[in-house]
This record gives sequence, structure tokens and C-alpha cells, in this order.
Amino acid sequence: MRLFHHKKELVSHLDDVRGKKRTIGLVPTMGALHAGHISLVKKALSENDVVVVSIFVNPTQFDKKDDLEKYPRSLEKDVALLENVSDQVIIFAPTVDEIYGDNIKSQSYEFDGLDKVMEGEFRDGHFNGVGTIVELLLRTVAPDKAYFGEKDFQQLQIIRKMAELKKLPYTIIGCPIERESHGLAMSSRNERLSKTTREQANFIYLTLETAKSKFGTENAKNIADWVKSEFDKNPLFDLEYFEIADEATLTPMLKKQDNQKYRAFIAVYADGVRLIDNLRLN
Ligand code: PAF
Repeated sequence: MRLFHHKKELVSHLDDVRGKKRTIGLVPTMGALHAGHISLVKKALSENDVVVVSIFVNPTQFDKKDDLEKYPRSLEKDVALLENVSDQVIIFAPTVDEIYGDNIKSQSYEFDGLDKVMEGEFRDGHFNGVGTIVELLLRTVAPDKAYFGEKDFQQLQIIRKMAELKKLPYTIIGCPIERESHGLAMSSRNERLSKTTREQANFIYLTLETAKSKFGTENAKNIADWVKSEFDKNPLFDLEYFEIADEATLTPMLKKQDNQKYRAFIAVYADGVRLIDNLRLN
């Protein structure tokens, strides 16, 4: 397993890899790796000869200083975890200075409105920050395929849009959400929950499952009202948004169309930690 902190050395190593006609997968992460990340890495290893796992807590995608500071960082543990997965993993763990120099700023993207809803409404500038770092990682690693989890489904659609607009010739692959045994979507942020809240946090997933069961017979507004009333009754969790939206455009569903795919999206605060999840409805 190789570990690089600098773009130049990584690029030169990957040139050698490509010279030997070996394929390259990319799994971008912000570290604090859990089983969800490892499943992305394993999927990437099953489809490529080597896999670059980037570990970088990207400052430009955080709209709150506090959230950035509290984001868990555990490089040594992450390296040990990846060492156990495969020696075909290459870790890229740059510093903020290596990525941004003294200009810690996002580029500005036109995402065709995908960034104006849900996460985009509540996290100012977030997707420009994600676009900036993912574009840089894709251009640096030039992978055959890059892998992203569907937990951040809106992010996945935005990255696809960015790759299309910038004509980046890399295949973007979405991978299913990994869940803790009781249903909570795996996230590095789960570590910041108290034991009790973490145990109870399958409430989010169970609510999504019930919303799905209502989807066949009730309209989106009734389902959203029901979700809100469930959260109003639960003192551990504060609902930020619940939305039923078209998978492709991410626009809220007004009237169900037979040929469209819909998902329920949710963002919740628990113990001051922001959690998101989503579930395909049809
Ligand atoms: O999903 C994440 O962990 C991050 O948003 C990503 C894609 C690694 C970009 O920093």
C-alpha cells in the first residue's frame, strides 16, 4: 500500500500504473472511514487493478466553521483500516495547503438547479465546494471509474452533472447506502452521537420506510405532514427537511408520473449533529 501527501508524487506513480496498462479506481472520502467507505473501496477493487482512496476534509464545502472543526479526523486509523483491505490501495492524503495554497475558495458551477434544493437550500456554497474538490481529484487521478455513495444522493447527481458539463471522461458510479444493523445510514458523523441517540437513530430510517409504504396511496403533502408530526413527537431528533423528489431532477414531486423514479430525502439534527438519509420509493 502506498501513501502520498503530494499531487506531484501521486501523479507520477499513477503514470507508471497506467504505463503497465493497469486500471485505476477512485474513492474520494473525508476520512473517519467506516464500513460504508470500505464497501465502496471493495467495489472499486473488484472493478479496477488499483484504487486511490483520497482522504481530505475539504474546507470549502463546510458552511459552518464549527462543523468543519468538529469533523472527525483519524488518518492513522484510516490507513491501518485500508492496509487490511488490500495492498492495491493507494492513499492520497493531502494538506489543505497542497490543495488550495493560500486561496481556500470554491469555483462557481452551474448545476442546472440541482444545487438549489434540499442540501443546497440549507448549506450555503456546499455544492460549489464539493464540485471544486471532486473536479480537482478527478483531474489529478484521472481514474477509469470513480465511486460515490448514494447516502449523499444529491451530491452524486451534482457530481454527474459537473462531470458532464466539464466533459470529464471518467465513469461516475453510485453505490447503495450501507446501514448499521438497526437501519441508521452509516456516516462518519454517527461517531459524534451519544450512545442513546445512536441506538434510537434508526427512527430516521424507519420513518422513511413508513413514508415509502404510504407512497402508493397518499400524496406527497400528506406524507410530509405525517413525517413532520412523527418528528414533533420525538424530542431526540429535529427535522430540517423531508422531501419527496424526482431522482433525476431533484425537483419536489407535485403529481406522481408513471415513468418517473422518486426518492424520499431527509435531514435531521440529533445531539447537534446533522444526519441525512434517503430511500427510493418506486
Ligand atoms: O462525500 C464526501 O465525503 C465528500 O463530499 C467528498 C465527495 C469526498 C468531497 O469532499
